[in-house]
Amino acid sequence: MTFRTLDDASDLAGKTALVRVDFNVPMEGGKVADDTRLRAALPTIQRLRDAGAKVALLAHFDRPKGKVVPEMSLRPVVQPLADLLGAPVRFADDCVGETARTAVAELDTGGVILLENVRFHGGEEKNDPAFAQQLAEVGDLYVNDAFSAAHRAHASTEGLARLLPAYAGESMRRELEALDAALGNPVKPVIGIVGGAKVSTKLDLLKNLVGRLDRLAIGGGMANTFLFAQGVDVGGSLAERDMADTAREILAEAEAKGCEILLPVDLVVATEVKPGAEVRTVKAGDALSDDDKILDAGPASVARLTAAIDASKTLIWNGPLGVFEVPPFDAATVATAKHVADRATSGALTAVGGGGDTVAALNHAGVADDMTFVSTAGGAFLEWMEGKALPGVEALRA
Ligand code: 3PG
Repeated sequence: MTFRTLDDASDLAGKTALVRVDFNVPMEGGKVADDTRLRAALPTIQRLRDAGAKVALLAHFDRPKGKVVPEMSLRPVVQPLADLLGAPVRFADDCVGETARTAVAELDTGGVILLENVRFHGGEEKNDPAFAQQLAEVGDLYVNDAFSAAHRAHASTEGLARLLPAYAGESMRRELEALDAALGNPVKPVIGIVGGAKVSTKLDLLKNLVGRLDRLAIGGGMANTFLFAQGVDVGGSLAERDMADTAREILAEAEAKGCEILLPVDLVVATEVKPGAEVRTVKAGDALSDDDKILDAGPASVARLTAAIDASKTLIWNGPLGVFEVPPFDAATVATAKHVADRATSGALTAVGGGGDTVAALNHAGVADDMTFVSTAGGAFLEWMEGKALPGVEALRA
């Protein structure tokens, strides 16, 4: 990995580090509802404080589109962050100009300040060089610890890295190392699991993966589209019937590139998506009625998938295998997740998962902590799985 990290930053004492974090956190009633992203920022903040630097945190919240929107202030993040850090956190009403510079100047060595939402300025999302320059005037060096915002080429995620000595923070480094171990330079054989509702939203991802993986298991609603494309009766299931040609193209490309595709061989079917619904398990290819909906993969599919996982050394997972939010349609996802977790904890498998639904599914199965790494990034994780260069990461290359 050729990224500048804090190991490359010498003599931090007395300097001000501008640290880009992702504090775009779920809020309920004006309060932080999930502090995962705050906790993710702690190692970098602490490391910089220990080295005698001042820490000025840059972040966005929501999409205020270049205007000051009081409801989108970062102020509600200050106290939860201070509590987690065990140290005071100051706040400045602006991230640039006299307000920011004075507030930073008043900080003691090792002091921490959160600067107001960078997206209150139109220059942020435009990656305006003049705005990036204003940001640069607030600090001496730049640390990007926000992988989950690295797919945005904004002033605080990309432009600033061109103006100040720039480094990956600790969370960013961990994320990049895990992603490299899963897809960049993985130990082979590598298996992917891709699920979720629609093929159309994951086309680039599927195309990239079939060129990189030894095996790819497809689940969830998108498996129905592939089954339909192969002439399997999907009844009244969610399926993108107009994507059948595309699905066949992906299958042909996988075959040409030596990637084995695993589609469900048995299907859990019900007429209603409700907890405890009456279900039947049918073989893929059996006749279904128009009322039948395929809502999960069956036990034979899970057995085949877990055998394929046992034959693999690396796994990358994005998207559930069924409607896991509504038991019993969580069975395939939970059984597979538990199997993956066992292999990962025994050291037999490097297992990396990511994407909003995937994190929820792994939490539902109670195994998120047993994975080698779970990325909480949404769009950035998907773009990385699509094989796209992320501007915020590229700017940190040594
Ligand atoms: C996220 O929450 O996924 C990131 O912070 C990116 O937010 P955005 O989609 O508003 O750029």
